[in-house]
Amino acid sequence: MDIGIDKIGFYTPNVYVDMEKLAEVRGVDPAKYTIGIGQEKMAVAPLHHDSVSLAVNAALSILDDEDKEKIDFVLFGSESGVDHSKSGAVWVHNLTGIQKNARCVELKHACYGATAGIKLAMGHIALNPDKKVLVLGADIAKYGLNSGGEPTQGAGAVAMVISSNPRILSLDNDSASMTKDISDFWRPLYSDFPIVDGKFSNEAYLGLLKDVWGTYKEQTDRELSDFEAMCFHLPYTKMGKKAIQAMTEGADESETKRLMNSYHDSIYYNKQVGNIYTGSLYLSLLSLLEQGPELKEGARLGLYSYGSGAVGEFFSGVLKSDYKKHLHKESHESVLDDRRELSIEEYESILGRALPKDGTDIEIDNEQVNIGKAYLEAVKGDIRKY
Ligand code: HMG
Repeated sequence: MDIGIDKIGFYTPNVYVDMEKLAEVRGVDPAKYTIGIGQEKMAVAPLHHDSVSLAVNAALSILDDEDKEKIDFVLFGSESGVDHSKSGAVWVHNLTGIQKNARCVELKHACYGATAGIKLAMGHIALNPDKKVLVLGADIAKYGLNSGGEPTQGAGAVAMVISSNPRILSLDNDSASMTKDISDFWRPLYSDFPIVDGKFSNEAYLGLLKDVWGTYKEQTDRELSDFEAMCFHLPYTKMGKKAIQAMTEGADESETKRLMNSYHDSIYYNKQVGNIYTGSLYLSLLSLLEQGPELKEGARLGLYSYGSGAVGEFFSGVLKSDYKKHLHKESHESVLDDRRELSIEEYESILGRALPKDGTDIEIDNEQVNIGKAYLEAVKGDIRKY
């Protein structure tokens, strides 16, 4: 059965920091952030945006009435959940108006959560071909001021409708995955910020990539030349370059050059947003599809998902004819273009703010400009009001 991505949308908050200006204030050569790390702008989430409101805005940008009738599963991938028990998917279900008989679940494994959602959705659609699944990847990546990870923060969400006979990308059912219990990046329950061993996390990301790519090749008999382009989980865009280098080690130089061409299209949005954890791979896919030239029907794309801790998976999909007609390029570009640049003082003040930890009620101020259709308005009696 033909199962895959029928629709894909994204949302990021209305404010960002310019990486060159952040570098100047941190006393770092700006080229380290823009070239060494590969980031131009970094999305910042004020208190009125959490993983739920980001996901709702991403979903609202693509769902129509027919989707809302046919979706019977909402899978919310996130590592920035807003409640220990209630699933973020429940708020998304309500705020997007999806029919009442849908199931709603939150999935967690670091940046891998949305890929887990896609895998589960494929199985569900195989059993229920007339239904659709809404898969979300929504996160706020925060490492803290002056931390090693600071230039690799970001915020945003990607929403995808998975269905039979998809109009954008058919997903192959032959992926290769692996799990390895390591401590490269994790966030203990008491902490607002992750603990990260930056260099080790890079090595682990690339180590698992080589492993699952090797297994995928053995399983499928496919080679680099079978792929029109590769998309990677992008904690920062330079990571994609390292990934291509790792995959093309020992291959003909022309293969590296060919993949590097599409790499530039696949990082266009990520460069302006930063890491959005679960959504990053799919933001890169969206970037390739919307910012790159129209690729041929049947062109095969490779996707590498990595979640620290760690799970890695390499999978692939095949483009549908006229897929460009089903994208929302202009609205995604305006989400990015309509943002306001923050001064470094404003950014530091936003990063220093948090909801009260003792359950005190709070009304949340916001600028009321370009903040999307959904935002957090207040928390009263420990109940969040969007
Ligand atoms: P760092 O120590 O700040 O940077 O850590 P560095 O000294 O390694 O430099 C970074 C790059 O900039 C290097 O290039 C330098 O040469 C270059 P590379 O060797 O990597 O190719 N550089 C310059 N280039 C041009 N002009 C200059 C200049 N100076 C230096 N003047 C690090 C960087 C990414 C480790 C840090 O920011 C960090 O810890 N980030 C957070 C962790 C992370 O993103 N890990 C990625 C893999 S793990 C993952 O993807 C999972 C994750 O998304 C979480 C999840 O799964 O939930 C993080």
